[in-house]
Amino acid sequence: MSKQRAKLVVGNWKMHGRLAENAVLLQAVAQGAGELPAQVRVGVCVPSPYLAQSQSLLEGSRVAWGVQDVSAFTHGAYTGEVAAPMAVDFGATLAIVGHSERRAYHRESAELVAVKTQRVLEAGLTPIVCVGETLEEREAGSTEQVVGMQLDEVLAKLSEQEAARIVVAYEPVWAIGTGKSASSEQAQAVHAFLRARLAAKGAAVADVPLLYGGSVKPENAEELFRQPDIDGGLIGGASLKAQDFLVICKAATTSVAG
Ligand code: 13P
Repeated sequence: MSKQRAKLVVGNWKMHGRLAENAVLLQAVAQGAGELPAQVRVGVCVPSPYLAQSQSLLEGSRVAWGVQDVSAFTHGAYTGEVAAPMAVDFGATLAIVGHSERRAYHRESAELVAVKTQRVLEAGLTPIVCVGETLEEREAGSTEQVVGMQLDEVLAKLSEQEAARIVVAYEPVWAIGTGKSASSEQAQAVHAFLRARLAAKGAAVADVPLLYGGSVKPENAEELFRQPDIDGGLIGGASLKAQDFLVICKAATTSVAG
């Protein structure tokens, strides 16, 4: 019998949204989330210019908000960067680090992702550390080696107490934005592997939330969230439509209840 952990569903808006449409989306999500049971937590990670808007529309609601990346530095001459304490100024509690789009397009190394995770924790935010393999890596049979290395690099820099405060998101690169989700069996297998890796860091780390991301939709969310080591989702495209996102959040409810 697997342990019942609370579920967490987080939207990653990526570089989408404008002020007017955000207002409609944030209000709808805040209202819908208010009807979910307490075991399901909901969040959105928005582009940084919209943190103030998120704060003003989500404060007092059940929805947490945050950023999609942070600088590896706390302040300084780093043009264009946003530091974790700046997000805290706007009430953020979440920060995605190591998303595959940043690893691929901005050449972020596993080492840099680990440093960013430290900055996020120091600022008092919850890091959502993304790991995932490419299609070539999966086909070469190296999925566990790749995600294991990505996670280990982060864990190596953290104490057990710090590691217990992270969230891990498994996002197979081949499933992101492709409409082709990992099957629930494929996702569960990698989650079980990651869970064992986390547990090896210490008892307090074994139960950190493990989210699945990659083409989660209203149609497949429930099946994914029912898996014993899938504690929720990191949702891209479907988080931009309030109705779809809320159906996905509700799917987490069903799997907690069931
Ligand atoms: P999609 O849900 O659009 O596949 O994106 C997943 C993702 O990258 C979330 O961080």
